[in-house]
Parts: sequence; C-alpha cells; structure tokens
Amino acid sequence: MSSGTREPRGPRLPDFPWDSLAAQTATARSHPDGLVDLSVGTPVDPVPEPLRAALASVAEVPGYPATHGTPELRAAAVEALARRHGVTVDPAAVLPTIGSKELVAWLPTLLGVRAGDVVAIPELAYPTYEVGAKIAGAEVVRLAPGEAPPAGTALVWLNSPSNPTGRVLDAAALAESVRAAREAGAVVASDECYLALGWEAEPVSVLHPSVTGEDPTGVLAVHSLSKSSNLAGYRAGFITGDPGLVARLLELRKHAGMIMPRPVQQAMTAALLDDEHVEAQRELYAARRAVLRPALEAAGFTIEHSRAGLYLWATCGDDAWETVGLLAQHGILVAPGTFYGPGGQRHVRIALTAPDERIEAAAARLG
Ligand SMILES: Cc1ncc(COP(=O)(O)O)c(C=O)c1O
Repeated sequence: MSSGTREPRGPRLPDFPWDSLAAQTATARSHPDGLVDLSVGTPVDPVPEPLRAALASVAEVPGYPATHGTPELRAAAVEALARRHGVTVDPAAVLPTIGSKELVAWLPTLLGVRAGDVVAIPELAYPTYEVGAKIAGAEVVRLAPGEAPPAGTALVWLNSPSNPTGRVLDAAALAESVRAAREAGAVVASDECYLALGWEAEPVSVLHPSVTGEDPTGVLAVHSLSKSSNLAGYRAGFITGDPGLVARLLELRKHAGMIMPRPVQQAMTAALLDDEHVEAQRELYAARRAVLRPALEAAGFTIEHSRAGLYLWATCGDDAWETVGLLAQHGILVAPGTFYGPGGQRHVRIALTAPDERIEAAAARLG
C-alpha cells in the first residue's frame, strides 16, 4: 500500500479573488487616516434590535430544526414577497437556506447538473455562479445582456439588480430571458439578493406576474436577508418558485443536513414580518450613495448602470488593477472589475457598505 499523501480530487476552482488584493490592502491600510474599505459588500450597521431579540428568544430550544423551516417562517416569507414585491408563492414552495452563497454554490449539483452540462451566467457576475458550475463539473458560458443561452443549457443564472454592475432588468427583459432559457431547456435561477435596493429603477422579481405570469415552471428565485436586513452574520436566505423543484431541493437538503439553525429561523421570521428596518437601512445606503457617487464623478470617474444595489460600477478608462492601485494610495480599497469576468477590465466595483464617516473620508480624499 502506498504511504504517499493522496492528491485531493475534484474540480479546479479559481483562486479566491480577494486573496489577490493583499498588496493593495496593505497600501491602503498604511494611509495616515486609515483604510476606507469599499471592496466587499459586507454590512457594517448593527443587526436591528428586534431581530437580535428574536434570535435570543429561542436560544434554549434543544431539538433539531426543520429543514423546511417553521410554518411561521414560510408564512412570513410568503407575506413579505407579496407585500414588498407583488409576488405570490405557495408556503410549501419556500425553503430556507444558510445564507444564499451556499445555495448558489450547490444549486447546480442539487439540480443534477453534471459534467458536460452547460451553466449560463451573466457576462459580469458574482463569482460563485462559476464556482457552483465547476463544483458540479459543468461548463460555464457567459451571456451578454439579452443573449440567449445555447440549446441544451442546464441552468441559467439571472441577477437583477446585478452584482457588480447595478444593472436592472425590467419585466420585459426578464420575461425574454425566461422564455429563451425555457426554449433552451434550462432551469432559471434568479438571484434577487439586491431586490429591495432600487434607487433609479424599481427592480422586479422573476416571479412577478408581469414576468412569469401564473406559471413558475422551471423558475427559481433566490433571496438573501444579508443586505436588506443586515443579517449577513446570521446566514439567512431562502429559495422559492417552481414547487416541484423546491420539493426536490428540500428532499436533498433534508438528507444532507443543510438546515438553517432554529434561532436564525426566528430572526429571519421577524425580519420578514417587518418592513421598517428595511426602509431604515435603505435610507442609510441612499445617503452614502449620494455622497460617494458625485465625489467619484468629480474625480473623473464615469459611473455605469448602478441604478440599484450596493455598488457603483465605475471607470476612468484605465486598467482595473491600475485604478485599484491608485485608489489604494489614497487609502481607498475597491475591487477590480476583472473579479467578475473578463469584461470588467476597465472598471472597478465600489461598495456603499462603509460607515458614514468612512464614506465622507473617501469623498474628501477623492476631492
Ligand atoms: C449577487 C450575490 N448573490 C449572493 C450573495 C451571497 O449573499 P449571502 O450568502 O450573504 O446571502 C452575494 C453576496 O454578496 C451576492 O452579491
């Protein structure tokens, strides 16, 4: 028997993008007035108190939680979708997820996507869509806005409002994407984690009657409470849509132990029942955006798309890494557009997720 260490098998994954920002992070940190980190979309404002109280209120419950979530959680999700987004879903077709990143990474595998299959993702996209396709062994194609997926595609990811560009697909564009995906034989997964953060556009869910009518067949919507309710640390999201697909995902996730912790279910229920904290959080981001956007424009940047969501998609015409390096010298850390696809070579993504004082500092430095 060989005593050599066995090489790990499995998919070759891309390098973790943020690891490659280490040198720029060190430069930005050395600024005399400190780092302004606008490179990641992590919430910085506290978790709203009622959500913390809800989390703690069931801290003594010892048993295993239900993979399908409590009936109250599912009812709260149904009500929130109707109230906030005009979407009607069956409570049985709501499935909690441990944040949405794990769902994004595992959805192709859970849907039975295999080696040789194709997963279509937006031209500029959240990196985990590609990672999830690779975990399943599938090929990735990047689609330009409006481009149809190739025949036989297994899964099409949509993301409106988009990370990184803040581009919003209107109901007609979403309906056309769903039609083209169905024609290709693909399941549609629409990542809607920025749906509550529309600024100059009103984002629409893929499950809105103006998009899928009364027929969610082959369509899934992925929701996250990380940004709208500041619950990134709790890991809270859910998937809904086609009842048959959700039932299959539930079956697999039950067997695999992919269960949202019971206290998080309680916090998520409280978050879905209340719109006030979502509105308050929106106002904080709107105010930060109102400071940062004109400061970037005055400094010579052009902001493209960025009509919704948590990011400004900016270019000054230079190479993305050069711009990252230049901003790092001013203590401002941003993400190069190339993290999101080859089409991001001349852009940087600038997050609105920093405390007011840091956003003001960034604006002053840009001036
Ligand atoms: C487009 C998109 N989808 C999904 C996620 C994952 O969010 P979470 O796992 O916190 O729900 C993010 C996080 O930034 C994102 O930008």
